[in-house]
Amino acid sequence: MCGIVAGVAERSVAPILVEGLRRLEYRGYDSAGMAVFTGTEIERARVLGKVVGLTEQLEQKPLVGGLGIAHTRWATHGRPSEMNAHPHISGSDIALVHNGIIENHEALRAELLTDGYNFASETDSEVVVHLLAKVYSETKDFVEAFRQVVSRLEGAFALAAIHAEDSTSMMIARNGPPLVLGHGLGENFAASDMYALLPVTNQFTVLEDGDIAHVTRASVTLWDKAGELVERAQVTSTQSNDVADKQGYKHYMLKEIHEQPNAVLQTLEGRLGQVQVLPGSFGPDADSFFGGVENIHIIACGTSSYAGMVSRLWYETLGIPTTVEIASEYRYRQVAMPKNTMIIGISQSGETADTMAALEYAIENGARGVLAICNAPESSITRLAKITLLTRAGREIGVASTKAFTAQLTALALVAGYIAQLRGDDEFAAEMTAALKALPEQIVEALALDKQIDQWAEHILHKDNALFLGRGLHFPISLEGALKLKEISYIHAEAYPAGELKHGPLALVDENMPIVAIAPQDELLEKVLSNLHEVEARGGELFILAGEGVNYEPEQSNLVHIIKMPAVSRLLSPLVYTIPLQLLSYKVALMRGTDVDQPRNLAKSVTVE
Ligand code: M6R
Repeated sequence: MCGIVAGVAERSVAPILVEGLRRLEYRGYDSAGMAVFTGTEIERARVLGKVVGLTEQLEQKPLVGGLGIAHTRWATHGRPSEMNAHPHISGSDIALVHNGIIENHEALRAELLTDGYNFASETDSEVVVHLLAKVYSETKDFVEAFRQVVSRLEGAFALAAIHAEDSTSMMIARNGPPLVLGHGLGENFAASDMYALLPVTNQFTVLEDGDIAHVTRASVTLWDKAGELVERAQVTSTQSNDVADKQGYKHYMLKEIHEQPNAVLQTLEGRLGQVQVLPGSFGPDADSFFGGVENIHIIACGTSSYAGMVSRLWYETLGIPTTVEIASEYRYRQVAMPKNTMIIGISQSGETADTMAALEYAIENGARGVLAICNAPESSITRLAKITLLTRAGREIGVASTKAFTAQLTALALVAGYIAQLRGDDEFAAEMTAALKALPEQIVEALALDKQIDQWAEHILHKDNALFLGRGLHFPISLEGALKLKEISYIHAEAYPAGELKHGPLALVDENMPIVAIAPQDELLEKVLSNLHEVEARGGELFILAGEGVNYEPEQSNLVHIIKMPAVSRLLSPLVYTIPLQLLSYKVALMRGTDVDQPRNLAKSVTVE
């Protein structure tokens, strides 16, 4: 999603803005740009493509000045192009960057066209800069004009704007997408996340929805959504300023896949004792919060929702009615909220707009409170939660989630173990504790399947479609395997519970359809094996991840490929079976030559609806 960096300082801000944009690259984008007040006018540089292209342009023609705004754009209205890249300019003296969607842009555009404003782009964002110019021409006061404009906007937005007549201040606003202020000595900055500004400060103010700020080098004036002057607390970021690097791996995704044993250890650290989940792991209010839970709604999107689907089966084992809800649907449903419903919000970024809105809706709708499972400290979702369990997987840069997913599952397993303890289900708690302890080593063993996965990837490389099958705890893992393959190799992939095959998807099976099946040694094994024979009988090529004691007797050996999985625990086997599927999607994408870390059209942090 779009990223914003802006600054007002004595020194030249362009290098700080470029570094900030580089640090926001992980969010996903298609073009980049910057506008700087260079002494007498606002000058702009924009490129279609990567920040490195912008850097090259700035090397040819530096933009030197102490006031500037910069942006990475992820197209929503208008195709990816230099013309649509931000900043947008009105006349020659106002420049603006925008993250989000202006829902009333058509009406505003019509009004501005009538008033004689010319549009140079296809974006919804450009209406804001022209409206700002129009209102400024009436008020002659940039601060007042900006505030009036914001009050006329509908939708979700983070904004930063500068005016050539004031080289020492900028205006920013937040309504939805994240925006933070970073405070230096005699200089101030704004950005979509703290990480973008860590090279210049660790002191931040997180803007709340409806906030507008007038930011000078030495001061910040802040209004809340009611238009009242407000002071917000400054926080010291605890994030590491380490620039993420690939440490010898070809891609961040591969590095992150291999970091999973450690990510799981980090999630468990200080939370798992010898025989139980440690009391106090979830904070002082946890026992009373968890203690009264009678129902659970798990709310998430994408991969995070699949983590929720696995955990649902653990919570149901504990006798707690649990549903898993896709956030973008939940937020618009008339949800009947049972008594004492705990909401579990799962999000690696902590900024997913649909998840945020669905959690807010659940709170308004009478939920008991939100438990956030999140990989981003200080993110929006953690701020609305009653209890936050940070997954501590470390920064995930690859758009395709891997270590954040296994860390989410680990955190959800800790919660299940702890609730079992509170309810006196010692057997479940002991089994979960033992399974969690054994998990990092089992993931190491699964990573060692790398070479065998290469052979599978060579078979799947030229296919147009793939089916993934699993049952029980492993059905969500088949969904995750299919999503990973789609996301980074662009092969169309679907997942089904194996028992559903006969109810439709079996019609798709022929020699061109690879079927990746998860067949662990569990109570559903015989049923899965018989589903696989049905596939083989129709000429489908099978790729089976088989539990250590599982024997599948192929009818045609050239159509069946089997990888023997390491021994796993019953409860946490999904975390181990997901590893070869991650490797498979990575290797297929590598062979197809796609952009693994930043797949087309996708963003890491989906901050718009
Ligand atoms: O940051 P979140 O966990 O809330 O993100 C949810 C999804 O957008 C995310 O999991 C997405 O599906 C990933 N690209 C999966 O690899």
